[in-house]
Amino acid sequence: MADKRAFVTGHPIAHSRSPKIHGYWLRQYGIDGSYQAIDVAPADFAAFLSSLGEHGYHGGNVTIPHKEAAFAGVAHRDHAAEEIGAVNTLWFEDGVLWGGNTDGYGFAANLDEHAAGWAANGPAVVLGAGGASRAVIHALKERGIRDIRIVNRTLARAEELSRHFGPGVSAHGAAAVGELLADAGLLVNTTALGMHGDATLSADPARLPDHAIVTDIVYVPLETPLLAAARARGLKTVDGLGMLLHQAVPGFERWFGRKPEVTPELRRMIVADIEVH
Ligand code: ATR
Repeated sequence: MADKRAFVTGHPIAHSRSPKIHGYWLRQYGIDGSYQAIDVAPADFAAFLSSLGEHGYHGGNVTIPHKEAAFAGVAHRDHAAEEIGAVNTLWFEDGVLWGGNTDGYGFAANLDEHAAGWAANGPAVVLGAGGASRAVIHALKERGIRDIRIVNRTLARAEELSRHFGPGVSAHGAAAVGELLADAGLLVNTTALGMHGDATLSADPARLPDHAIVTDIVYVPLETPLLAAARARGLKTVDGLGMLLHQAVPGFERWFGRKPEVTPELRRMIVADIEVH
């Protein structure tokens, strides 16, 4: 059995690309470790969490639908998890189970890699007010963006997030999006819209200033309709795959003791996987 063991759990989990990412790094660095996907039904999650130590796991990742249950079930949480209200990374410290959230870190690290200086670009418009939006807003706040505009089909959910994150984070309904874009430096899509050509919330990149950066956390397809429209408009775009790759870094470092690198080769491997599925 491998020396250090980690996992990703979700339901379903077969589609997860995390085993490919961590498997690549384990091979790359010659570490005697393993990372496996484990399907756990919601009713069994609490028992799974409490049995981690006895099964010899150093920790793991948690994905849909268990991120909130993991938040509730760990003994300690890091600051990001508290702010986001969900846990995606588990590890042990002195035998005690910790939960963290690396989604906001992954989001910011992806922009650092592909759009250096992004945080100084001006107000940010965030489309969507779900779990992914919370991670993005947390990252934007951490990086000092003082004007964050949440736009959501359901205004009440945006208002809830605005209250949660406090001053500098405002809530808007879909009708306001055009005017909110006029002086924005960053546009982030955190919703699945655009994938299905749904027009209930549409942000036209033509309304953005020339220096604006557009990013989408959706990475299938790699170039979403929003990114394609932004590119056609001549704007800087960053796809969402890097967020997936970078959010994996802190977990790997905790379990396996080495900070891994997000390399072009790793990206190519995951892009190839997206293309065949
Ligand atoms: P996630 O955790 O991936 O963010 P979520 O919590 O279900 O998922 O949130 C989905 C987000 O996408 C919400 O902002 C949702 O808008 P509502 O709050 O109005 O439901 C948004 N969304 C999903 N489908 C949409 C659509 N067809 N048009 C506009 N917004 C949509």
